[in-house]
Amino acid sequence: MANVIIVGTQWGDEGKGKIVDLLTEHADCVVRFQGGNNAGHTLVVEGKQYIFHLIPSGILYENKSCFIGNGVVIDPEVLLKEMSELAGHGLPVTPARLMISERSHLIMPYHKLLDAGSEAMLAAGRKIGTTGRGIGPCYGDKILRHGIKLGDLLDRELFRERLQENLEEKNFLLTNRYGLQPLTLDAVYDEYMGYADQLAPFVANVSLALDRQRRAGRHILFEGAQGTQLDIDHGTYPFVTSSNTIAGNACTGSGFGPAHIDAVIGILKAYTTRVGEGPFPTELFDATGEELQRKGGEFGATTGRKRRCGWLDGVVAREAVRLNGITDLAITKLDVLSGQPELQLATSYRHGEASLEAMPNNSKSHRDLVPVYEKLAGWSEEIRHARHLDDLPAKARAYVRRIEEFTETPACILSVGPGREETMLLRNPFKR
Ligand code: GDP
Ligand code: IMO
Ligand code: MG
Repeated sequence: MANVIIVGTQWGDEGKGKIVDLLTEHADCVVRFQGGNNAGHTLVVEGKQYIFHLIPSGILYENKSCFIGNGVVIDPEVLLKEMSELAGHGLPVTPARLMISERSHLIMPYHKLLDAGSEAMLAAGRKIGTTGRGIGPCYGDKILRHGIKLGDLLDRELFRERLQENLEEKNFLLTNRYGLQPLTLDAVYDEYMGYADQLAPFVANVSLALDRQRRAGRHILFEGAQGTQLDIDHGTYPFVTSSNTIAGNACTGSGFGPAHIDAVIGILKAYTTRVGEGPFPTELFDATGEELQRKGGEFGATTGRKRRCGWLDGVVAREAVRLNGITDLAITKLDVLSGQPELQLATSYRHGEASLEAMPNNSKSHRDLVPVYEKLAGWSEEIRHARHLDDLPAKARAYVRRIEEFTETPACILSVGPGREETMLLRNPFKR
């Protein structure tokens, strides 16, 4: 038996969806534990592309169970749309295949309006560039203890009461602060009661269900969203998302005990991308940055925004290993680096006179970080066909070896293309 957590090590979009899909073959259950439909996880199976925002990336395997934990925030409209798209592909999502925690919090229409409104009010330089999906306001209400849980939706009276209380405050904000029309109780109530009828069969105590799976000796895979530098506590605050994205939250966000975790896999893109605003020390503003963006197809899977691109940041990678307790790395998108005559790996930052080996806490100093680079040889060969380590050019192997050495963490997977088969599984993390 092995229970494995997958997390992003950078600013998201490292290729978590692809690796989760790949490893689902060796698991019995896949669990989302945080974030919401700000995530966009892409899978390419037999040439067909799927993008999941809420449903765990394990859903394409018919005999596996998927779970959405209490730490996730749920926009029911998006969830139902995702379910109906899957049904359209001949993959109906039944309650036997997907359980959703009764304790997960609901994204309400006012959360989306407040997300957009608050971004619009921020001065230039302070804007976060959120996905506009209502994520921050929903988690904010959860922490303020104003939130409405998925389970509350099943009790009509309770839901109406909670909605009414919330609308009193939110309508004040919407009209007085953001100059918008107020929302009406009946309209939101009716909309959400429609969702309640459809979602009721999926609502469950996920912690209990996962415990049963664990006791039966099943393998559980936890699918992180976003990335370590977007973590609300440990990321480049305030340019972060509103949840803990690191491995510790796999337990909190699903009601699973930490002693039962066997491995943590950090997904590391062979270079760096970031979508939205915020510090990015190794960002490239030149033709190389544009080439990575183009060759890597670096457009946001949720918002379609162009992703900013830059060299691999070893400081960020090391920080991810420490914060998540990463046991193995999965290095993705190595193929995108083919043709670069020379590669650069940031090994520390200069900040004024100081040399830094970790990301500073102060958001002001983030802006003035100058990466100190180590140069590595590039390779010219295309490598998407590589299926064994020996199929890679020596210089690509040396790049991987240097990452392993610098992060003091072995790679268990190398990915050379978006497809399931474009992968080298060096060691199976479920067989330790
Ligand atoms: P996630 O949010 O971490 O799941 O990542 P995204 O799906 O947002 O972005 C990763 C993108 O890279 C997707 O379009 C994937 O299909 C693609 N991808 C994943 N692994 C590889 C790889 O090794 N090589 C290439 N070229 N593309 C990849
Ligand atoms: P996956 O799971 C990349 C970024 C947004 C913004 C910041 C806050 O696909 O890796 P939010 O809407 O969460 O309040 O926005 O976080 N962001 C992501 N960037 N990948 C993601 O998810 C992201 N989810 C949020 O762009 O900068
Ligand atoms: Mg993504």
